[in-house]
Amino acid sequence: MEKTQHKPHCLILPYPIQGHINPMLQLSKRLADKGIAITFAVLENVLSSTDDAFSASISVETISDGYTAATRAAALPPEYLPAFRKAGTESLAQLIERLREGGRPVDCVVYDTFLPWGLAVAKRLGLLGAAFFTQSCSVNIVYYSLFKGWLKVPEVGKEVLLPGLPELGVADLPSFLLDRETHPGSFELLVDQFEGVEDSNFVFVNSVYELEEEATDWLKKFMSVKTIGPTIPSMYLDKRLQHDINYGLSLFKPDDTCMKWLQQQSPRSVIYISFGSMAKLQEQQMRELATALKLTGKHFLWVVRSSEASKLPRDFVGEASGQGLIVSWCPQLEVLAHDAIGCFITHCGWNSTLEALSLGVPMVGVPWWSDQATNAKFVMDVWKMGVRARPGEGGVVGHEELVRCVKHVMEGERSEEMRGNAMKWKELTKGAVDEGGSSDNNIQEFVSTMVGGEA
Ligand code: UDX
Repeated sequence: MEKTQHKPHCLILPYPIQGHINPMLQLSKRLADKGIAITFAVLENVLSSTDDAFSASISVETISDGYTAATRAAALPPEYLPAFRKAGTESLAQLIERLREGGRPVDCVVYDTFLPWGLAVAKRLGLLGAAFFTQSCSVNIVYYSLFKGWLKVPEVGKEVLLPGLPELGVADLPSFLLDRETHPGSFELLVDQFEGVEDSNFVFVNSVYELEEEATDWLKKFMSVKTIGPTIPSMYLDKRLQHDINYGLSLFKPDDTCMKWLQQQSPRSVIYISFGSMAKLQEQQMRELATALKLTGKHFLWVVRSSEASKLPRDFVGEASGQGLIVSWCPQLEVLAHDAIGCFITHCGWNSTLEALSLGVPMVGVPWWSDQATNAKFVMDVWKMGVRARPGEGGVVGHEELVRCVKHVMEGERSEEMRGNAMKWKELTKGAVDEGGSSDNNIQEFVSTMVGGEA
């Protein structure tokens, strides 16, 4: 790349789901703060959810996946992904051309690895390409080993030993390795993330080097990995930075009343429960959770998305009204940062896990699918700041097990040790994004390359 005469310009291409938009938008804000012009490319339906505060510093443009809001809802990955590839490739190239004609030429496409064709478009147009992985380096090692053929799916069934990782039991592996039939297309999506990645000029991972040093060092042998996490708004890492308090684009409407309610609770007394933006729990699992919450007698804040609400036990909402609050979506970062929160029952989506690590909140992991089981394994055995609840029949975690886990984390013999570890990771993740920290250095290195025109 030649030294640019204009302000360096990155086009950011996220996969259009909340758990992918959040970290990529946050990286965009960091890059914008460091003088990079940013265009955030999203689908039409995401556009209406953007927050004015962020769109003032970042331009937002649309690309197409070939669907309308109505047809997209019914599309499954095996048909959706190839259609998105085709329409996305065309519309992305057109967008880059439009920007060039409008005097805003793009220098680098930062593409979500769920959309590996973003790299092909960048290379065809002579631009730099930077991959962005929303999952941890450790999970990347599992998928990359499958991609390279070093790990064979039929072998999966016994313990797996991979470089840079602790021994992983079957239950610790990302779910789609064993569960391909239930979610067709998902396994291929995850493995295909590595298409062309060795040729990407940069490979961003939303993780923190100090959380997984060995895994990161091993991956670096094959690709230009740069850990840049945690990608959470600066206010949560430095209270003085009040201008950056939320992600800036929410596909769900947060219910802020819970913050007032939390204000009335004593420190470390509340259980926060959320399963992210996608999980569809079995009705039985919702019943077990409700029973467990009642049995603990503790205050709770439970996020039940509108699409899941009909699964709540009929009497529970009324019965529990004195004990807890159920909301359809909340400002999760504000909640986790509140000192009333004593523990987080989580599906261990990577964003939620990293957010809890960064805000020092011990976890009870109840993984649902994808990388979540592997994240839960690390929470319990590597970072030692929580436990993973053991599922019973049909994969459902029973209420007794849930009560045991909550007590273990909030008041058990090892609860202080876990909280101590949580505080340690909180400090460490903050250090990574502070000036001169591992993630800040990686971002700075990228920015310097963009400004200096060398890659
Ligand atoms: C998905 C996958 O399921 C996950 O396994 C993968 O690691 C990333 O993409 P999702 O299931 O939505 O994401 O979970 P998670 O990664 O935790 O992301 C959810 C995001 O929504 C978090 O940033 C969280 O702060 C936010 N959130 C969640 C809210 O803002 N409010 C809520 O009420 C719940």
